[in-house]
Amino acid sequence: MSVVHGIRTLGVLGAGQMGLGIAYVSALHARVPVMLFDRSTAQIKSSLALMDKLLTKDVSKGKITSEQASVARERVSVISQEEGIKGMRDVDMVIEAVSENLPLKQTLFRTLAAEVSPEAILASNTSSISMTKIAACIVAEGQAASVEGKKSASRVVGLHFFNPVPVMKLVELISALQTSPETLARAKNFAEACGKEVTTSKDVPGFVSNALLMPFINEAIMCLEKGTATRDDIDKTLKLGMNHPMGPLQLADFIGLDTCLAIQQTLYAGTSDSKYRPSILLERMVDAGWLGKKSGKGFYEYPQ
Ligand code: 3HC
Repeated sequence: MSVVHGIRTLGVLGAGQMGLGIAYVSALHARVPVMLFDRSTAQIKSSLALMDKLLTKDVSKGKITSEQASVARERVSVISQEEGIKGMRDVDMVIEAVSENLPLKQTLFRTLAAEVSPEAILASNTSSISMTKIAACIVAEGQAASVEGKKSASRVVGLHFFNPVPVMKLVELISALQTSPETLARAKNFAEACGKEVTTSKDVPGFVSNALLMPFINEAIMCLEKGTATRDDIDKTLKLGMNHPMGPLQLADFIGLDTCLAIQQTLYAGTSDSKYRPSILLERMVDAGWLGKKSGKGFYEYPQ
């Protein structure tokens, strides 16, 4: 039996580079109304400006018509600061895309579980945090085995998009232990409606993607730390020798060094495997506020 996604309205929590990209593909390709919320109004403003820019570029390249662009733009509305998460009460799915911080995600999922319809799917764009832990937090203590508790947690699922979301073709689907087959099928169908291909990973630290990518990035940072090669030669080696679109140091800047560090800490804490231990240079750069492209400085400089 095929299950349709049945998402008539989507909520996106967090309007950073990932949340904005998710809103963009959902409005343009899945053609669903999107309600966007971020506690920073400045972040929302800059994200909507970027969305306008991307739509204008797609029109000028002939990828979409100007009518399709304006319809997509009109599908995206912003929830006011006063309303907050309550503004998502009628959506059929929420995709959370805030920073990689378990206590923050747990707080948000508890609020979502209380405010959003019990039938709505609660998805997280986490890149490494256990979906089982996130699902467990919305079930009250002592209620885990009850029908109500199971139903509540069964609608939680991981939908891991890649940056830049409008360009990257993949979504990684992660099932928490509690996720129901119906939630998984609907989430997969929704990601496909956004124009993505879907792979499935078990709920292990970093899933498939970051369990492979982060040790690679970390090893590149350690090469720089040890003086094995210069920044430019490390990146050039991977770009020209292996045909990667970006070298690992440039990619780390692009992802965000704070995000890379948070993922590596989750991998290391979740496995105790020293191959995942973050390099000291990465930690120091994050201490200095050098977070990569978004902050204007990382391994490279980015005039803002
Ligand atoms: N948002 C939206 N679109 C963007 C974009 C952005 N931030 N940056 C670039 N693009 C679009 C451009 O508009 C252009 O679109 P067009 O074909 O319609 O003109 C297209 O991407 C190509 O861009 P450019 O020609 O300017 O530049 P490049 O050819 O160098 O491509 C890139 C840029 C697509 C970012 C390419 O360098 C790349 O693929 N890099 C690797 C990205 C990657 O590995 N991402 C995954 C990161 S890991 C992750 O997200 C998981 C997380 O958990 C850590």
